[in-house]
Amino acid sequence: MSLVIAVDGPAAAGKGTLARRLAAALGLPYLDTGLLYRATGRRVLDREADPHDAAIAAAEAGALRPEDLDRSDLRGPAADMAASTVAAIPAVRAALLDWQREFGRRHGAVMDGRDIGTVVFPAAPVKLFVTATPEERARRRWLELRSRGVAADRAQVAAEIHTRDEQDSNRPVAPLRPAEDALILDTTALDAEAAFATAMAMIRDRLNSLDPGAAKA
Ligand code: DC
Repeated sequence: MSLVIAVDGPAAAGKGTLARRLAAALGLPYLDTGLLYRATGRRVLDREADPHDAAIAAAEAGALRPEDLDRSDLRGPAADMAASTVAAIPAVRAALLDWQREFGRRHGAVMDGRDIGTVVFPAAPVKLFVTATPEERARRRWLELRSRGVAADRAQVAAEIHTRDEQDSNRPVAPLRPAEDALILDTTALDAEAAFATAMAMIRDRLNSLDPGAAKA
């Protein structure tokens, strides 16, 4: 099977920026799996339905089209919460599972999400769990919103991150947690450059320990 690198972790820990850079450096396709849940949540909101409605959410997950992932309204508080809510519905996760596996199997991939290392590709040779303190993640999300011209209240951003952490970590199906063999990368004190350098070193070490001959070649 082609190389799959799983990058999991809570909201605003820096997974996306890191995973994108890793994919470019390693010559692998990149998939932001959060977009699948965001696009599903957005389609439910388009129908003016409740994201907790399992039947509607599962139908929308099954009807996703590639162009749904290119929509410009997949980020922001409403989309964030709708994504986290539909992501707790087992039938939604089931509908999106094959799609993710197929993507990774085709040419390998760096995939970021919440359950790549635990459910989607539990046999991936490298699993990173990227985290940071809730305060630092709230600060980053707030800065990101500001840079996009969205006026956001910092305390409210922190509260939303907290709600999403709770919802993503406590759902019965595929909760957010590190795989047993995940490498933990705490980015609280790291900028994007340092996080990238640390992750690359971790990946090299892990691949080397799995297949020392290949790394020397
Ligand atoms: O990574 P993100 O913030 O874009 O993800 C949006 C939501 O989707 C997040 O709150 C949890 C859910 N998600 C998930 O349950 N499993 C994934 N593999 C990716 C995202």
